[in-house]
Amino acid sequence: MSAMPQELSCILERLQAQPIERGSRTYWQGQWMGQSVVAVLSRVGKVAAATTAACLIEHFGVDQVVFSGVAGSLDAQVHVGDVVVANALLQHDVDASPLFPKYEIALTGKSIFPTDVQLTQELTGAVSQCLPEIQSKMQSEGLWQQLGSRARPIALHQGLILSGDQFISSASKSEELKRQLPSALAVEMECAAVAQVCSDYGVPFAALRIISDRANDSAHLDFGQFIDTVAAPFGAHVIEAFVAQRGESQKGQDRA
Ligand code: ADE
Repeated sequence: MSAMPQELSCILERLQAQPIERGSRTYWQGQWMGQSVVAVLSRVGKVAAATTAACLIEHFGVDQVVFSGVAGSLDAQVHVGDVVVANALLQHDVDASPLFPKYEIALTGKSIFPTDVQLTQELTGAVSQCLPEIQSKMQSEGLWQQLGSRARPIALHQGLILSGDQFISSASKSEELKRQLPSALAVEMECAAVAQVCSDYGVPFAALRIISDRANDSAHLDFGQFIDTVAAPFGAHVIEAFVAQRGESQKGQDRA
């Protein structure tokens, strides 16, 4: 799953799939390196992501869900161009207090939705495998320099990602989120909703976000160009490595 058209296009370039229309979405169903996959553009926001995830599970019968996209950083150590793999997700805009504790999804007793440990480990492995190649490609294409000639290599982080129906584009709002949820590394608009749906159905979920901005007053300026030039090809490359890895481990299991 991805939320932005550029991200899905980069995936579809690598995949042989047939389009199937359902609920105002196009689901691309096909084979990718021997794996049955369905790729889909959820569109932006929690409801769009949740209905798409439910359809993937109910109609297409997927048994695992992986999301790839971009996010704003909420942590001084998480820089533009870095990758965050979620180990947990929370909806920062949910507040049914005083009936239920702030952030809790009413009647579930849960506010934090952990990602699947095994799938998250596999996704992290795919990111680590791709990082050196992505970094040298970005350097040779001059994209590295566009990220502010940063001297440090791309870092891979694992931690809490927040989702809400808001593009966070002010330092005061991101500082407020950080004060309230200090362990959060990044903020976006979909994955905690997908995690909630996957939890309801007992379907493993993993999510990867490339940092496009610092969720501050210039967040919207960095966003569009970054998706086109960096995040979309980067995300597709990682997902391809992830699918290839799964194919390899399946072959190993078949041989055993
Ligand atoms: N996705 C990427 N950057 C974001 C931001 N600043 N707020 C919410 N979602 C985002």
